[in-house]
Amino acid sequence: MRTLMWTVAATLLAACGGSEPAPAPEPAPATVEKKAKVEKKAEPKEEKVDLTTLSPEEQKAKLMEIGEKVYKTGGKKGLACNTCHQDNGKGVPGAFPPLAGQKDHMGDCAKHAGIVINGLQGEIEVDGITYNGVMTPQGDLLTDLEIAAVITYERFSWGNDFGVCMPEQVAAARQGG
Ligand code: HEC
Repeated sequence: MRTLMWTVAATLLAACGGSEPAPAPEPAPATVEKKAKVEKKAEPKEEKVDLTTLSPEEQKAKLMEIGEKVYKTGGKKGLACNTCHQDNGKGVPGAFPPLAGQKDHMGDCAKHAGIVINGLQGEIEVDGITYNGVMTPQGDLLTDLEIAAVITYERFSWGNDFGVCMPEQVAAARQGG
């Protein structure tokens, strides 16, 4: 109560106290600089993923998570796979082959990785439809982790169940193994 009275008194005094306008407070330069520094965003760090510390289930989950992003965005430098193969993995009949249920090309991890690394062209038949298109090589555009992730995503999507593909297997596929 006492404090309140003092506050009221002070406010009244201030209100009546002379007509001289108080000088506009200038912000101290130090404060401004500090604020600017806080607002500056930290550079985004490259995502470091250490799969070796994870259980097989966690490895698969992590690869699927990264892989879906790569499939839909192409990662940092690659081409988004869904542009041609579509979100549902069904492709476009006659132009882009489906990835759903394609054990011939995707059953083997090294072969699957090889298609992403080296691209694919020439006539192929998928589900009774002939394709003679060109898939651009992406070995230089995607990291081993990105390729392992995107193909693992394909290997477990749309009813596929072809097994996990690890970055070391992609690295070996680059060497032709
Ligand atoms: C610009 C269009 C395009 C993009 C982008 C693309 N592909 Fe392809 N992909 C093709 C074409 C065309 C073929 C068939 C090539 C042929 O006719 O020989 C193909 C074939 C394939 C095949 C083997 C055929 C099959 O149906 O199993 C796989 C696997 C594949 N692509 C995976 C991928 C992955 C993974 C990505 C993303 C990293 C990707 N593709 C991005 C056009 C594309």
